[in-house]
Amino acid sequence: MPHTIALGTSDTSIDYCVTLRPKGSDDSPMPQLSRIGVSLDSELLDRFDKFIAEKGYDNRSEAFRDLIRDRLVGTAVVVSKAPVVGTVTLIYDHHTRLLPEKLADLQHEHHEVVISTLHAHLDHDTCLEVILLRGKSHDVQQLADKLISAKGVRHGRLVMSSPETVLPHRHSHG
Ligand code: NI
Repeated sequence: MPHTIALGTSDTSIDYCVTLRPKGSDDSPMPQLSRIGVSLDSELLDRFDKFIAEKGYDNRSEAFRDLIRDRLVGTAVVVSKAPVVGTVTLIYDHHTRLLPEKLADLQHEHHEVVISTLHAHLDHDTCLEVILLRGKSHDVQQLADKLISAKGVRHGRLVMSSPETVLPHRHSHG
């Protein structure tokens, strides 16, 4: 079984490698594997390990693969030109240099996609921002990706809904 985890610690982060294999290849005799290195701060790794223990995973690589698959499936639901609405939820520290400006700039640059923004000052440092988006799936996804990946955003999540992709409602008249 191709489980490879290399552990090494530095001052603030823990580096480890996971081995990825294509889904469905578990039974193949020579699965094609790629190893990647991931850096995590030790607190996040502690929480990851607790998650793994709770869910009953044998090791980190297996849990990591499932999380990746889950994320990829969750973002590939709608075709790229389908009209969607979405909410992006961001948690960030507003002291992070230039981050509030960057988030505002992104929203101005894509104002045709942004319906509204709700901002709450959760505590002295932490901001919660919920951004309502509407547009083509691809445009909504792209802006959400830029917002969530902005350096200093601690947590971000896009939830999309697409009324047009919901299966048609059928009455049975029997
Ligand atoms: Ni704030």
